[in-house]
Amino acid sequence: MIYSRIAGTGSYLPQKVVTNFDLEKIVDTSDEWIRSRTGIERRHVAADGETTVDLAEHAARRALEAAGLAPGDVDFIAFGTTTPDLVFPNCGVLLQQRRGCRGGPAVSVETACAGFMYALSIADKYVRCGESKRALVIGAETLSRITDWSDRATAVLFADGAGAVVLEPSATPGVLSTHLHADGQYKDMLYCAVGVSKGFTGKLAITMTGSEVFKVAVTKLGETVDEALAANGLDRSALDWLVPHQANIRIIQATARKLDIPMERVIVTVQEHGNTSAASVPLALDVAVRDGRIRRGELLLLEAFGGGFTWGSALVRY
Ligand code: UT7
Repeated sequence: MIYSRIAGTGSYLPQKVVTNFDLEKIVDTSDEWIRSRTGIERRHVAADGETTVDLAEHAARRALEAAGLAPGDVDFIAFGTTTPDLVFPNCGVLLQQRRGCRGGPAVSVETACAGFMYALSIADKYVRCGESKRALVIGAETLSRITDWSDRATAVLFADGAGAVVLEPSATPGVLSTHLHADGQYKDMLYCAVGVSKGFTGKLAITMTGSEVFKVAVTKLGETVDEALAANGLDRSALDWLVPHQANIRIIQATARKLDIPMERVIVTVQEHGNTSAASVPLALDVAVRDGRIRRGELLLLEAFGGGFTWGSALVRY
């Protein structure tokens, strides 16, 4: 049996920081409201001309360095993003060209905030079946480009960033299992109304019914976490860390409560960067690996939930 294991992690946030106080000057909101309802204190926004692949390139370089690998070692790229640089080539291919790891397959997965979970699941299967020896998995976004900065319901939430992991084969886990879901009946609760083959006007904006999204997110995340544990015959007490999607501190707390995991065992970075969609789980993972909280051998549960709805979890022995 071959498993995939995480050989290295990396992340990157653009330099420009927008605080809640900065947003107070743009929309009718307050630092107090944003902190208490979302946990967010600041977010990072890409500079003019800085793209999703630019952010991903930094995260990928750091993940490869952490794994002790060179770009040429990578033979598969799975890239989760909803804000690609171009319609095509896909972001995986653009990153491959930048990092000089040509030749292997490179795919982009467009499943909103669950983009990294989908990319991880796909890459895990390539490694498990022996088709990839070194897979680069990315979650990266420039959501600021599809945020309506005059809409307080979304402008205070979304932001930019990138995270990456390198997967390699291992005789022992590694990734124990991944669990993905989608339910298109909820498509109208969180979406971007404009696409290439529909209604293209040059203006993009996220539309969200926040409180309804909140309720479904808490339910589905709780279910998928239980699903991951049940699939592996494990009890909640076996988990060392929950690495959740960083959308809202109240969703994170509600999921932790359902799981009966103390907040000290939950990685929370949402205050630093807001909701970076596909980037948020690998960003949080990398922060906690680098600050020494997450150690080799510990059991992690990663989970994310996004527009569609799409959601998923992964149980990982780090
Ligand atoms: O990552 C993808 C998945 N997305 C999510 O997980 C987001 C899920 N949803 C949420 O995180 C929360 O629902 C929000 C943070 C978006 C909103 O929090 P809420 O506690 O659900 O607030 P609400 O939408 O029920 O609105 C409460 C009040 C309303 O005013 P009234 O009607 O009570 O007078 C809103 O108009 O808060 C008002 N409000 C704001 N006030 C100040 C909404 N946005 C803002 C704002 N600043 N930015």
